[in-house]
Amino acid sequence: MYSASGKDGKFYAIKVFFFEKFCSDAKKANEEAKHERKTIEGLNHKHLVNFVKFCDKSVITMNDGEKRNCCYNVYELMSRGSLEENLKRRGPFNEEICRFYFKQIILGLTYFHDKGYAHRDVKPGNLLFDSEYTMKLGDFGIASRLEGKDFLVKDSWGTQGFMAPECYEGEPYNGVEADLFASAIVLFKMCTGYIPFVTLDPRDNHPRTSLLQKGDFEEILNSFEKRDKFPKLSSDLKDLLKQLLMWDVKDRIKFIDVLDHKWFKGKTANRHDAV
Ligand SMILES: Nc1ncnc2c1ncn2[C@@H]1O[C@H](COP(=O)(O)OP(=O)(O)OP(=O)(O)O)[C@@H](O)[C@H]1O
Ligand SMILES: [Mg+2]
Repeated sequence: MYSASGKDGKFYAIKVFFFEKFCSDAKKANEEAKHERKTIEGLNHKHLVNFVKFCDKSVITMNDGEKRNCCYNVYELMSRGSLEENLKRRGPFNEEICRFYFKQIILGLTYFHDKGYAHRDVKPGNLLFDSEYTMKLGDFGIASRLEGKDFLVKDSWGTQGFMAPECYEGEPYNGVEADLFASAIVLFKMCTGYIPFVTLDPRDNHPRTSLLQKGDFEEILNSFEKRDKFPKLSSDLKDLLKQLLMWDVKDRIKFIDVLDHKWFKGKTANRHDAV
């Protein structure tokens, strides 16, 4: 990812796909770039990183003078970095700030789903802040069309720790619900600094390992609460997290009910407090 100024004097983010480094040939690099831009090209939302333009053949001169063939996509510049970086620097956010940003994630995702896509990689590294600290969802590299009335996606893709349990089962799964599960992990991370499900054994690609009990979020939370300096969460937030992170997708709260949940409707930070 690079930044550069355009002819209009504004700065933009440039996602470069090098032909040699990531892919064996130009065709493959172009396919990756094209997949991402085909997803986002026609979309426009305050809480999605906006696509600006693309170039399918270019040469970049590296710092050491080496010239490398590439293609690239240009996006609006998210100058305040990712949620991941901000959490590292500032530590976990208070609940009013978490609510402020969680609402923005839900708004961006709802729009994205309504347009017929699952994101499949909702995580703090893909949630970015613009110069005014508006949060936007970016990185559409593994987004997928939602198929049929059950909004199904195939293939298990995503980032471990953020993927819903059903993503590991090898069957098509509901991409909307899996994105909501990932957003709940982001919410947990925003308010605590931790992710709840981590794999203890690096060879195990299933998050169940640290879960102790299937779907027993209370048990997980209890063990976290014994840690030093673990933030005290309100009972409303714990209730929402518990319902969002149920192991079985059938037991999980749906998007529409999240909007009605007591925690979601609570006092929200304003932009000024949140930055
Ligand atoms: N529009 C943007 N403006 C500023 N920085 C950005 C922008 N898009 C991405 N970045 C930065 O570049 C990083 C990687 O971008 P992106 O997630 O799109 O690429 P990726 O190759 O899929 O990376 P990863 O595998 O780490 O998810 C982001 O975490 C963020 O820090
Ligand atoms: Mg990314």
